Amino acid sequence: MDPIAAFVEYENASLQAIEAAEDLQALEAVRIEYLGKKRGRLRNLQTLLSKAEPHQRPILGKRFNELRNKVNHALEQQQLQLIQPRQKLSGLDITLPGIPLRLGRKHPLTQTMDDFKDITGRFGFSVAEGPEIEDEYHNFIALNIAEDHPARDPLDNFYLATAGKSATDKTGAPTLLRTQTSTVQIRVMEKRKPPIRVVSLGRCYRPDTIDQTHHCMFHQMEGLMVGEYVTMAELKSVLRLFATAYLGRDVHIRFRPSFFPFTEPSVEVDVSWNDDWLELGGAGMVDPNVLTAVGYDPEQVSGFAFGLGIERFCMQKHGITDIRYFFENDVRFLEQF
Ligand code: FA5
Repeated sequence: MDPIAAFVEYENASLQAIEAAEDLQALEAVRIEYLGKKRGRLRNLQTLLSKAEPHQRPILGKRFNELRNKVNHALEQQQLQLIQPRQKLSGLDITLPGIPLRLGRKHPLTQTMDDFKDITGRFGFSVAEGPEIEDEYHNFIALNIAEDHPARDPLDNFYLATAGKSATDKTGAPTLLRTQTSTVQIRVMEKRKPPIRVVSLGRCYRPDTIDQTHHCMFHQMEGLMVGEYVTMAELKSVLRLFATAYLGRDVHIRFRPSFFPFTEPSVEVDVSWNDDWLELGGAGMVDPNVLTAVGYDPEQVSGFAFGLGIERFCMQKHGITDIRYFFENDVRFLEQF
């Protein structure tokens, strides 16, 4: 056989076989067939070479060496391809370091509210919900807040409007964003008979000037207990136990005389904290007018109510100096909790 033709045939066949090998085992079989020292096809070419005319041998010898190197190189390349992970072949390198997962977490205010629900739940309080869009009846009238009370000034409330017209409820009464969670007291008492022991936690809205301790949106926890012989002593005990449970040590509660149209007597509640007094919120005995408005007999039942500012509590506990941090969604702040 013509050695040149044999070389060409060998080259084509071996390179095709190398490329077609799908795994290392198949590639090894190709290597043995084409390059094997004992019975490989390369030996046949060597035999042809030894039989060639003496003047052809240098040229054929050079061609033989080039061919052997070329096939060896192709074999090594295919070997490298086959030992790399398949994912890499498809463009995904699973050997690269991973991208760490950033786990989400609850907002500090949500965590605080969960803690509050947990603590008050241990005292037998269940959680009640109420709407954030309220009517004037539940936000003011049923809470004994008279028409001429400054709290009803439109400039002190977020009344709702669409296309320049006041938004109203089904009865045609104006609606507003609730200014306090005390609205839920009324909604609970309208539906249930005493004894009642509920808390309600959620957002409130007031057009207050925003500063370090005030926001136009903030959270309150309302508490309501109604039954026979409910007294202020119980109010104070519940608030003290609550403050102790949340702040984690023995704290003192102070009542300061105050005024709320829906409680009588009314107090501001302070708790001793780091050698100072921290205002928790307002509280008092449910006003007989409120009990009457929901169909209870004030001669038969009495009750206490309290409304605590959740942000201020959380700020004190964690040393947060500005209420605005809660609502800026800055991950550097949020991931500290
Ligand atoms: C009330 O809202 C009454 N409803 C509380 C109450 C409930 C009294 C039941 C009696 C019986 P006051 O307006 O003081 O009260 O608000 C209570 C708490 O909410 C404040 O002590 C404060 O912690 C928080 N708070 C009020 N306004 C803001 C505001 N703009 N930003 C942040 N927190 C506020």
